[in-house]
Amino acid sequence: MRKKIIAGNWKMNINHLEAEKLLEDLVKCDIKDNHEVIVFPPFTSIPAALKVALNSEIRVGAQNISQYENGAYTGEISSDMLLTLGVKDVIVGHSERREIFKEDNEIVRDKAKKALEDGFHVILCLGENQEIRDRSKEEDFVKNQLINSLKNIDIRGKNIILAYEPIWAIGTGKTCSGEDAEKMCFFIRKTIKELYGEDEASLIRILYGGSVKAENISDLMARDNIDGVLVGGASLKSESFKKLINYEV
Ligand code: 13P
Repeated sequence: MRKKIIAGNWKMNINHLEAEKLLEDLVKCDIKDNHEVIVFPPFTSIPAALKVALNSEIRVGAQNISQYENGAYTGEISSDMLLTLGVKDVIVGHSERREIFKEDNEIVRDKAKKALEDGFHVILCLGENQEIRDRSKEEDFVKNQLINSLKNIDIRGKNIILAYEPIWAIGTGKTCSGEDAEKMCFFIRKTIKELYGEDEASLIRILYGGSVKAENISDLMARDNIDGVLVGGASLKSESFKKLINYEV
């Protein structure tokens, strides 16, 4: 049985003092059996978050990672720096990295490859924008993104998690319906089966992200092909994040 994930992507929010406070509240929550909770603070808040999360079930990950080992890459953070802190989870290919910071599939692939080789659990994000959705081309687009973001990487036996995050549903309050999210996650699983076989398709976890909140998490979590959620806005406040952790099954 695939373990469910509730992940909070804090994006460029929550300084280290705020992270400490938020985590102090979250570690008091009972995490359901067969569930994992991971938070992704900005880099500078990671040490404070790790300190509070130590000895709790909550894991602390990073929102980005360099594809390079070390050297003259101003502003970048390496896999060694994260591993030395004790971070084992990373997000790659978030739509904000792709759109705002112009990371194309090739860069995302290099980051995913490096992180997987170094033993991280990698959450690879995929998802179409409104214009593609309006043309009903979301399946073609996401399939292409998936193939090219994983080109020449054999994910079998690796710790990779996929996150379907339609851009039009991120931070807009416009949630993809449970039915639509399930349809896309099913499609992604089907594509994994074509590319990597039945075993990988049945093992791989696929998350949904985009305006997830207390009102829609139960519906999403109950779907066959949705193994968890990647949450932005609703993970920034202890009250709303706790409601997600304690969602009604
Ligand atoms: P929101 O939950 O704020 O829509 O953000 C989703 C997201 O981008 C998580 O990575």
